[in-house]
Parts: sequence; structure tokens; C-alpha cells
Amino acid sequence: MRHTSHYVIATAIIVAAAPAIAQTSVTDEIAKYRQLLADGNPAELWEMRGEELWKKKDGPQKASLEQCDLGKGPGVLKGAYVELPRYFKDVNKVMDLEQRLLHCRMTLQGLTREQGTKTPFASAGNPSDIEALVSYITAESKGMKMAVTASHPQEKTAYEIGKKIFFHRGGAHDFACATCHSTDGQRIRLQELPNILTKSNAQAAYTTWPAYRVSQGEVRTMQHRLNDCFRQQRFPEPLYGSDAITAVTMFLAKNAEGGVYNAPALKR
Ligand code: HEC
Repeated sequence: MRHTSHYVIATAIIVAAAPAIAQTSVTDEIAKYRQLLADGNPAELWEMRGEELWKKKDGPQKASLEQCDLGKGPGVLKGAYVELPRYFKDVNKVMDLEQRLLHCRMTLQGLTREQGTKTPFASAGNPSDIEALVSYITAESKGMKMAVTASHPQEKTAYEIGKKIFFHRGGAHDFACATCHSTDGQRIRLQELPNILTKSNAQAAYTTWPAYRVSQGEVRTMQHRLNDCFRQQRFPEPLYGSDAITAVTMFLAKNAEGGVYNAPALKR
């Protein structure tokens, strides 16, 4: 279960906090299914395609992404993801992985923003280069500890904005992220909701994205997960690569500090 151990531990804690027979058996079924697939997470196919895309000379400038600087120097992938989001001097702002990747595709390969943000999420017959690239990049941090410093003033600001968004209530149901994610043992229908304000849950939630979603047959990124949560909150869909998503991601990533990164993972 090398991809999912943290998630499973968190699941066990939540079930223990609020036992429910039906939920437990569903959880067991999912755990069994995961076990079956644990040694061959389909996400590996995304990682492989991502590596090809990373190295492929592409775009109007016929350049690869191999000189992309994700924060640890041009071309350094090892450990880059566990330090993101971070402040980037060259653009004088905080970026998360997906924003930085877009920046590299625009500056190195010459794509326009429209071209670079086309198909952030795959649909049937329409694969996403972004999901593949993100799978490849994040896999290079597997086994490393989350180490977002949030020490630069702009990083601190991003964290504070992310925290505000987390607690901001609104929409038709007057929900905040916190409505669903700040209580132990809470669930919607059969889904357990992590209490993201506790360290172990925050780590389990953050270190297991992106993930191959069995129900969708695709690898999904953190932005996809967050979009789905904003939808559940009855908020409008955030723009792809927006600063609001980076701020929320900063809040989540910092709260997951010290957790061992273990994705692309496998989820229902
Ligand atoms: C109406 C309830 C609801 C709201 C509001 C909500 N979420 Fe979620 N969230 C969910 C559900 C349901 C899941 C999926 C849980 C599962 O798959 O077991 C989830 C999953 C997540 C996960 C992934 C957890 C994991 O372990 O995979 C993160 C991170 C997350 N939400 C963050 C947020 C953030 C940030 C917000 C606010 C922008 C938010 N959520 C708002 C219901 C909600």
C-alpha cells in the first residue's frame, strides 16, 4: 500500500471516531480494491506520458521544459513539489505547481495563456497534458517530507489569504471549506470528510494528490479536487491557475508540513 498508507490511516481514525456499519464495509471494500491495485497504480502511465511531454521539444519555440525552474533551479525536479507553493523572484509572486508549470510553458515553449490552460482536466477522449506533467513532476518528490516554508512575506500573505478563504462562508448554503473540513468524524453521504485543521488529516489529504480516481479513470490534480469542493460549496468555479487556488493550496500545503509525500496516489 505504498501509495495510500497515510490516507488509510486517516480513514481508520475517522471511522473510529464515528463508527457506522455501512460506512465501514464500504471503506473495507475500497481498501481491498486499493490493495489489488497498489502495486500497479494506473497513475504510472500518466507519469510516463508526463516525462515524455517534459522532454519533448514543443510549442512555437520548439523547446522542451527541461530548463523549467520549479524553485530549486532549472531542471531540478527532485523535491521541488514538497516546497511548493513558493515565492519566485523572477515573477515577484507566489506560485503553486500548476501556475509555475503554465509560466514555463509560456516562457520556454512560447505558448499563449489560452494554449497553456487548454484542457487542464481530461474528459473522455480528450487527455490533459497538464495532468500528465503534474503526475511526472510530483512523483519526483515521492517519499520526501512536505517542507513549504512560508517564510517570505508574500508566502505569508498567500497563507493568510488561503486561511481566510478556508473560513469564508457564502453561497446558497452559506458553506465554508471549514463547514465540511473542520470537525472530526464528519461525512457526507458515504464520504468521510477529513478535518483539515488537524495535522494528521491535513497531511493525509495533501500528500495524496494528485491521484488516479478510480471512479473517473483519470489522474486528477489538486486544483481539480478543489474545484469539486468549491462546487460542493455552491461557489462559482475558480479560474484555472488563479491566485485564489494558489492561496488555498498554500494554506493546505503548509498545514501538511512534515507529512511524507506519497503521490500520485489512488483514490475512489
Ligand atoms: C459541502 C462539503 C464540502 C465543502 C464545503 C468542501 N469540501 Fe472538500 N471535500 C468534500 C468531499 C465530499 C471530499 C471527498 C472526500 C472523499 O473522497 O472521501 C472532499 C475532499 C477534499 C480534499 C481531499 C481530501 C483527501 O484526503 O483526498 C481536500 C484537500 C479538500 N476537500 C479541501 C477543501 C477546501 C480547501 C474547501 C474549500 C474551498 C473544501 N474542501 C470545501 C466536501 C466538501
